[in-house]
Amino acid sequence: MKKIILPGCILFLTMAGLAIAQSSGQLPKAVGSEPLLTVAYQQINANFTGEWQQYGQLFTNLQQFLFPRLFLLVITIVPVIFFFHYIAIGPMVFDHSGKQVYCYNLFVRIVHWCAALSFSLLVITGLMIIYASLLGGGAIGIMARTIHLLSAVVFAGFAVFMFLVWIKDMLPALYDLKWMIIMGGYLSKEKKPVPAGKFNAGQKMWFWLATLGGAVMAVTGYFLYSFPANIDTLRLSAVIHNFLGAAMIAMFIIHVYMSMAAIKGALGSMISGYKAEAELKILHSKFKY
Ligand code: HEM
Repeated sequence: MKKIILPGCILFLTMAGLAIAQSSGQLPKAVGSEPLLTVAYQQINANFTGEWQQYGQLFTNLQQFLFPRLFLLVITIVPVIFFFHYIAIGPMVFDHSGKQVYCYNLFVRIVHWCAALSFSLLVITGLMIIYASLLGGGAIGIMARTIHLLSAVVFAGFAVFMFLVWIKDMLPALYDLKWMIIMGGYLSKEKKPVPAGKFNAGQKMWFWLATLGGAVMAVTGYFLYSFPANIDTLRLSAVIHNFLGAAMIAMFIIHVYMSMAAIKGALGSMISGYKAEAELKILHSKFKY
């Protein structure tokens, strides 16, 4: 016992002496103006605890500062960009009085709208969780988390169906590269046939992000809700969930803009199942129907 008490007392007295000397300004400051004692303490701490505290601080910064700003940026900048697109280029208008092609059967349409509704709830409640403190926290935050969880379960189910019914048409093709180079023709008012099958490269990207990205969101979200993992896994899950969530919200806004404003009558195709042949000949010139 004496073997521990004596060195312990000496160490304590030395540290206390150093602390008093430092606070009275009798000890030099380390480079970068960190007091020597602090540097020594950080060194001892790092040896005992490893680097986790450093990541903890990084994580706190991401959660408190970066993510709220990132989501704010996404929900403001993306609509502003597409507002200017609408002003500068305007919507694409096609003749809907000619031949109509049946593209989406009833099952596909029901799956799409159920996925759309549950995903929209996920976006709204996700943003409410991020900005819960601004909304008063408490009951609102708990309600948002509950609806977020329920909508995630519903969306996961419909996303599986969506994946299965569309995967064949969503596989990449060589002409998708060309579509990307000319940005799908959306930067020009000219109506020249663009290289795309039943779905263009932009629609394919949205499909893969919504389904595979949705699966990653489901796994990371499961960790965040039920805490079955260690602290590092939880932190990593939160970082992935937030970055991917921001990308999905950006693509969601673009998808809604394309469907409701950029192509006149596109919304009708997901209601009736029919698309105008005049539109297919230009926007889906490689589609064999
Ligand atoms: C709530 C707002 C939404 C609206 C108004 C909407 C509207 C539409 C429309 C009109 C189409 C047919 C586009 C065309 O063939 O020209 C479509 C297709 C599609 N939607 Fe949605 N949708 C919404 C939300 C979603 C959500 C949340 C998802 C998935 C998470 C989704 C996934 C898809 C996919 C994968 C397609 C086929 C590819 C494409 O056209 O982009 N939609 N949607």
